[in-house]
Amino acid sequence: MSEVLLAVVGHPVAHSRSPAIHAAFARALGHAVRYERLDAPPGQFDAVLAAFAARGARGCNVTVPYKFDAHAAAAHHSPRATLAGAANTLRFDAGGWLADNTDGAGLVHDLTVHAGWPLAGQRLLLLGAGGAAAGVLGALIAARPAAIQVVNRTADKAASLCRRHAGHAAAHGVALSAAPLAAPGRPFDGLINATASSLQGAELSLPDGLLADGGWAVDLMYGAAAAPFLAWARAQGGQARDGLGMLVAQAAESYALWLGQRPDAAPVLAALRAEVDAA
Ligand code: ATR
Repeated sequence: MSEVLLAVVGHPVAHSRSPAIHAAFARALGHAVRYERLDAPPGQFDAVLAAFAARGARGCNVTVPYKFDAHAAAAHHSPRATLAGAANTLRFDAGGWLADNTDGAGLVHDLTVHAGWPLAGQRLLLLGAGGAAAGVLGALIAARPAAIQVVNRTADKAASLCRRHAGHAAAHGVALSAAPLAAPGRPFDGLINATASSLQGAELSLPDGLLADGGWAVDLMYGAAAAPFLAWARAQGGQARDGLGMLVAQAAESYALWLGQRPDAAPVLAALRAEVDAA
């Protein structure tokens, strides 16, 4: 097999763990893969992408702040990219680029397989209604929880995210609603933090009693950005998990889209966890 050229495109990308994750997948599967970091300064995303595709690249991951631009740049879209309205994976097919979104599948894989937390029949609370929340809501619905409530600082955005997913939720028998954070109703079995609040140096102020006995909470971030939310969840008596497992699992989904073979995320996650914990 000739070398497959891949990359992560974003701004910034210097600290991206994706090259190491994909290198580990390629080693495990015996593939020849070159995975680069491409920093696209503001306004340069399309040009960086076109130049990379012209080098014979198979595709790329796309990260903040370009997931909406990636969706717009593609000729074809997977159903999950269409639902999210954003893409984290592009494949440079000759007949037109394909946009996919593997974030939600990565999250669901991490929760149900790595953590062993079943989603079916559960009551879930999704915090946030931006790009990260849009990327995971479709897959959460497809896992058939009993209900998902979406709350957001800007309430209108939660309502519009729910409207966009209403048909998908009805098809899966999921009660999907937007609500004010101050009045969440009954406690939830699982909390998913898809806000960028920690990154912006502001902590979410969440009411007590959000989490049911034996409940869990996951932050889509990892490291320092996830720490305040996870500490809050543990103080509430919940199990807490960061987004490192989702990061590896979404990468495995993307890899399968490009190479046609799905790598095992678990050993790569274990190695990465050890590295992050030691840092
Ligand atoms: P991303 O792609 O990371 O989701 P985004 O689309 O800018 O980035 O969305 C950021 C999310 O974090 C939004 O849900 C945002 O709430 P608003 O829609 O009200 O802006 C949320 N967020 C960011 N800072 C926050 C804060 N300090 N408190 C609560 N929510 C916050």
